[in-house]
Amino acid sequence: MRARAAVASDLEALRLDVAGCTACTLCADRQRTVFADGDGSAGVLFVGWAPGSLEEEQGKPFLGRSGKLLTDIIEKGMGLPRSKVMITNVHKCRPAEDRDPTAAEAHICSPWLERQIELSGARVVVPLGERAAGHLLRRPNTPLESLRGQVHRVGGYKVIATYDPALLLEDPSKKRACWADIQRAMAELGLGPPGQRSPK
Ligand code: URA
Repeated sequence: MRARAAVASDLEALRLDVAGCTACTLCADRQRTVFADGDGSAGVLFVGWAPGSLEEEQGKPFLGRSGKLLTDIIEKGMGLPRSKVMITNVHKCRPAEDRDPTAAEAHICSPWLERQIELSGARVVVPLGERAAGHLLRRPNTPLESLRGQVHRVGGYKVIATYDPALLLEDPSKKRACWADIQRAMAELGLGPPGQRSPK
């Protein structure tokens, strides 16, 4: 897998390789893989955990209500078009019946994401939620609160963890802390001190 991911010389080649992946059992039930949305030219990559049914149906990550909130964070909060950031997931296939993917499945899928980060040229990677953050920082099962609030250096990029938008919809009191994380990411991207209001 790592060798296959490494030979992809651009994101389109990687997307096609991912679409043909049969490395774990998630491929058996999938309608299609969900690779990414956006071109990443703003230097930032958002990473969720796994696509849901809407995302699988349309082949794009973060649609529906949590996708709308993520779009607001990017567009109203950061002042960037959603099309200029890249959005993806740790897992490129939706687990059947939305079961939680296993640690082994995350491990198998990992080289795709690692190569995607490299090829996207992301300077800042923002994992959305505890599982994505734990995966990217190689600290699985670590509470999100001990991973967020700081800038982690991983290889050539920085990781700034924040909440899963689905959790923000359940618990809007976390939006203020999410906004602090996003401001930290904006500072790393050189987007300057934001004058905008936190997205509602
Ligand atoms: N939640 C995720 O983690 N990823 C999606 O693509 C949608 C919702």
